[in-house]
Amino acid sequence: MAAVEPDVRVFLDLAALNRAAADVFVEAASRAVTERGRFLICLSGGTSPGPLYSLLAESPYRDLVSWSSAHVFWCDERCVPAEDLNSNYRQAQELLLSRVPVIAQNIHRVRTELDPELAAEDYALTLLRFADPPLAWPRLDLVMLGLGPDGHTASIFPGSPLEATESTWAVHAPANHPGTQRVTLTVPVLNAARSAVFLVHGAGKASIVASVLYGEAQPSLLPAQRIRPHDGTLIWMLDADAAAGT
Ligand code: 6PG
Repeated sequence: MAAVEPDVRVFLDLAALNRAAADVFVEAASRAVTERGRFLICLSGGTSPGPLYSLLAESPYRDLVSWSSAHVFWCDERCVPAEDLNSNYRQAQELLLSRVPVIAQNIHRVRTELDPELAAEDYALTLLRFADPPLAWPRLDLVMLGLGPDGHTASIFPGSPLEATESTWAVHAPANHPGTQRVTLTVPVLNAARSAVFLVHGAGKASIVASVLYGEAQPSLLPAQRIRPHDGTLIWMLDADAAAGT
């Protein structure tokens, strides 16, 4: 099946971007619960999704999601304790999950108390429990992604091997990234999603957004170019500053 082309949406400012992202989240949740009885959401870390998480925890959004049917996963995690300021789990927990009626057992965090390799294996087993055979992982309903200034997404950094057959990897992130070891979902898992959404804002991302979306295809150097769901939608949500180079 041919991979989808990105649906690029540009918003005037950050507030409009986050409201639109919240609408996409609510709609994906509603469709998933109606069609399959559960909502498999996969979150990211970094600074971009924080305001969205806060917004989703507020009315009216919090009341528009059937949180009791949600299962929460992470696209990647920094190998730091769960209560560390750099933990992606902690960020989502603090801003969103502790403020909505999600079932605690349905929050599937990466167990960073294990060694990174073991944490990656353990997370692969978690994904397997939700697998959509013949895949060894689920078709996630919504994957929320960010874009790093070097073109990385999740913790798939430039130079990551192109072929992955496993669902999760332990990776060494570049030293300037908090938590230099990480666990990440791999490209095949992200590309099996029913919907993948990039949320990017700020002038500092303008040039990398333009390269990833409209520049030469260099998937090894620009890992975000590798995210093309096989049978799903791909939405790039940008504020005007991040879209300035396109
Ligand atoms: C992480 C991420 C990572 C992030 C990008 C963008 O844990 O850091 O999942 O892939 O989405 O680095 O980060 P910002 O939102 O901070 O720009």
